[in-house]
Amino acid sequence: MKEVYTINDLVSRECLDAGHLKPAKLAVIGHPIAHSASPKMHQAALDAAEIDARYIRLDIEPGQVGEAFERMKSLGFIGCNVTVPHKLEAMEHCEVADGARALGAVNTICFDQDFTHGFNTDGPGFMNAIADDFGVALDTLRVAIVGAGGGAGQAIATQCAMLGVAQLVVVNRSFGKLGILVERLKFHGPETEVIALSFDDATLPDYCLSCDLIVNTSSVGLKSGDPSILPMGCLKKEHVVYDTIYQPPVTPLLAAANELGCRTSNGLSMLIHQGSLAFQHWFPGTNPLPVMRQAMGHFSRG
Ligand code: ATR
Repeated sequence: MKEVYTINDLVSRECLDAGHLKPAKLAVIGHPIAHSASPKMHQAALDAAEIDARYIRLDIEPGQVGEAFERMKSLGFIGCNVTVPHKLEAMEHCEVADGARALGAVNTICFDQDFTHGFNTDGPGFMNAIADDFGVALDTLRVAIVGAGGGAGQAIATQCAMLGVAQLVVVNRSFGKLGILVERLKFHGPETEVIALSFDDATLPDYCLSCDLIVNTSSVGLKSGDPSILPMGCLKKEHVVYDTIYQPPVTPLLAAANELGCRTSNGLSMLIHQGSLAFQHWFPGTNPLPVMRQAMGHFSRG
C-alpha cells in the first residue's frame, strides 16, 4: 500500500487502485506531503458515511498543480485538498469562489463535469475552531495575530477583518510583508481598526494586552528549543491564546499562557474544522465533524 502517490500515478485507474477495494477519488496535494494527517480524518469520515472512495496523499511538484487537476478530473476524482506550497498556484487553475479570493488562497477543490471550483475553508475553519474551543464568537473579540506575514496568518487575519472584529493587531518579523496585507484588511474590514507592528515595536506589549485573543500563525514553536514567540509582558491571564501549530501540542507560547492561567488551544481543532468544511463541499448535507474529531483524538469542550 502506497503512503504517497505522485503525478506519475495519475495515469489510469489500474495504476492508482491496484490492490485496493475502494477507488481513489479524493486527495491532499502538497510538497512534501508524507506527514499529512488529512487522510486519517477524511478516510474515517468516508468510511462512516459508507462512501465508496479512498483519500490519498499526492506529492505534486511546484508548477504541476494545473496538470495534476486535469489528470484527477479525467480519472473521476471528486476533489482534493491543497496544502503548502500550492495554495496560491492552485488559484491559477480553478474558478475561485469569492471567499477564497478574499482570503488570497485556495485549500479545497471540487471537480465537476465542466469546471474546477476552488474554495478556502481555512478562514471559516479557524472561526469555527475558536467558537468550539472557547465558546466565543470570533467577531466579538479583539485579535492579535503573531506571524501574520505567512500564508496561514494572512488568511486568518483576513477572516477576522471580514467578520468585522473591532481591533486587529498584526505582528511580523519582516515588517515589510505587512504592507499589502494591511491594505487587504482595510478593504475587507472597513470597520476594523488595523495595527501593524514589528516585534521590536515598543507598543507591542500594550497592544497585545488590549486584545482578547492572541493567535500564533508563525512557525516558531515547531522545533524543539524554539522560544515563545511573544515575551511574557505581552500576555495576561484573561487572554485566550490559540497556536495554529499542533505538533508539538503545547508550544512554548501555549506553555507560557497556561502558566499564567489563560485558556489555550492548538491548531488541531482548526485542522479538523477546515477538513469538515472541505468534506461538506464534496458531500453537502453530511456531518463529518464527530467522526473526524474521534479519528484525530480531539475532544471538544461541549
Ligand atoms: P508561509 O506560511 O507563507 O509558508 P513561513 O515561511 O512558514 O510562511 O512563515 C510563517 C511565519 O512565521 C512568517 O510570518 C514568518 O515571519 P517572516 O515573514 O518575517 O519570515 C514567521 N517566522 C518564521 N520564523 C520566525 C522567527 N524565528 N521569528 C519570528 N517569526 C518567524
